[in-house]
Amino acid sequence: MSTHPTLQQSQATPHPEVPERIAQHRRYLMCRPEHFTVSYRINPWMEPARPTDTAKALRQWQQLHDTYVQLGHDVELIDPVPGLPDMVYTANGGFVIDGRALGVRFRVAERRGEERPFMDWFAAHGFDVVEPVEVQEGEGDFLLVGDTVLAGTGFRSDGASHREVAEVFGREVVSLTLTDPRFYHLDTAIAVLDPVEGPGGVDRANIAYLPGAFDERSRAVLAERYPDAILVDEADGAVFGLNTASDGRNVIVSPRAVGFIAQLRERGYVPIAVDLSELLLGGGGIKCCTLELRG
Ligand code: ARG
Repeated sequence: MSTHPTLQQSQATPHPEVPERIAQHRRYLMCRPEHFTVSYRINPWMEPARPTDTAKALRQWQQLHDTYVQLGHDVELIDPVPGLPDMVYTANGGFVIDGRALGVRFRVAERRGEERPFMDWFAAHGFDVVEPVEVQEGEGDFLLVGDTVLAGTGFRSDGASHREVAEVFGREVVSLTLTDPRFYHLDTAIAVLDPVEGPGGVDRANIAYLPGAFDERSRAVLAERYPDAILVDEADGAVFGLNTASDGRNVIVSPRAVGFIAQLRERGYVPIAVDLSELLLGGGGIKCCTLELRG
């Protein structure tokens, strides 16, 4: 699949043994941040005393939206609900594979009002909706890599939800424990760069992660399963560098994650910088604002 010619893309200079990255078509669900603000604190990034600029959040969000469209992806929209300022972070609205949408059960009371609107949206758009039993926050804590679901716990999603996800989707689920409160959702600590488990061989680099966000056991699991992963440093992690969306070739990434951007280029990916600084005030970034709809 080709990328849009008008997009500004820096030329990658991959190692000779790095494979040519192939862009795959994506379908995403997003929510315009019309009601975005920080009125409560449910993660260390949120400071209700600090003013937010909703117009700026809207402009930045629009840039992310338009970037996806220019790359040829389909973007669906869910209507924002007044009084639900975090609804812009649609990654927390569900987890969708094979046309089946598992709804979410938020740990935090402040976001529970989002559960029904997301499930209603999935049902109205032809998805087979599964009502969740255990506490989990959707694609914020569940990432599909090949046929495997990487599942986060430690802050938001319950360990018991990992079993539920395995049953609902019939996939292998690998539990990973987050230990740093700044990286409270799995999608702040791991980026899935290429969800297709390739034929193996030279340099897959299909995920990137921040080792310091995990406990020792989880670090060992990741090192064993993904020996070619890109290891991202603390500075890039702390600007939500890992909170990216990738189509297998183009990686939408924070411009502040300079080291990670260089690593992506070296491994044959095409980084495209989009700044969501205003949405970071709510503790979210690019991936948080993006839910993948897998048909
Ligand atoms: N304020 C939101 C919360 O704390 C941010 C969610 C970020 N989403 C994500 N997928 N990491 O729940």
